[in-house]
Amino acid sequence: MRMEGSVDGVTPGDGVTPEVDFRVELAEVSVAVAQAVAAHLVDERPLRLDQSTKSSATDVVTQMDSAGEEMAKRMLAQRRPGDGFLGEEGTAESSSTGLVWVVDPIDGTTNYLYRHPAWAVSVAVMEEGRTIAGCVCAPLLGMTAHAHRGGGAWFRQGGSERRLSVSSESVLSRSLIATGFGYTQQRRVSQGRLLARVIAHVRDIRRCGAASIDLCWVASGQLDGYYESGLHLWDFAAGALIVEEAGGIVTTVPGESVWSAHDGTGDRSAPTATIVAAGRGIHSDLVGVLRQAEDEVVFG
Ligand code: IPD
Ligand code: CA
Repeated sequence: MRMEGSVDGVTPGDGVTPEVDFRVELAEVSVAVAQAVAAHLVDERPLRLDQSTKSSATDVVTQMDSAGEEMAKRMLAQRRPGDGFLGEEGTAESSSTGLVWVVDPIDGTTNYLYRHPAWAVSVAVMEEGRTIAGCVCAPLLGMTAHAHRGGGAWFRQGGSERRLSVSSESVLSRSLIATGFGYTQQRRVSQGRLLARVIAHVRDIRRCGAASIDLCWVASGQLDGYYESGLHLWDFAAGALIVEEAGGIVTTVPGESVWSAHDGTGDRSAPTATIVAAGRGIHSDLVGVLRQAEDEVVFG
């Protein structure tokens, strides 16, 4: 029987040691910023969005992406002076504290543009190349997911918290797997070829259009797994911690930790290797299928 993935009646503050207290505080900052930016993106969405393009003609950015990033940066500078900042839309500040906030102001910009609800604000704080606290807020899905390292992953709804755990599925052919596609034609051709191989081994495929939401759905057991090649740090910085804290595993296809898959700078010219997130029951089988498929597919 499939496990739904939640444990009620406990809160994120229960049982913390003093050393994780600070991470609880950072998680609260990430929730406050993600929720405030998300509310702004809903309330202040103009009738007409200005659109320009980034890496390709399909990679759209709007004035709300820039406004969201600016707002996140302002809020974090007030609450955490001295911390660094890295935003998808180009803002970068160095850190004097060792902590760096990594923000995607709208993950799923195409969904935001077309008024599909699966878009999110992703806010993570990293130390020594690993996320230690973060939040993904998808306001139109009613979802605020957050985590701090060592303290579990949680859905916050109204005043209550529900603990997340990944699915217990152990058979890949019964697994619901999500993926996503980048914006350049060459990469999409490789991703399509990879998908053609993976789909033969799984129950079905989903593509929601926001990596951070896919990761949260792995954490909540609403997906059994997720993989994508070519993500950037801001796409997975919060979501990967949420999966790990929900008991899942997030690695590259060679099997290295997700935190080794980036250089910490969010370099736009250097998207990461394929990232695989899943529960323990299927993670290695999914990696195995992807490894074999990648051997047959040349990535662009
Ligand atoms: C994109 C979304 C999408 C994923 C792409 C990302 P953006 O982020 O997360 O699901 O497939 O790889 O670039 O551009 O909407 O912030
Ligand atoms: Ca984005």
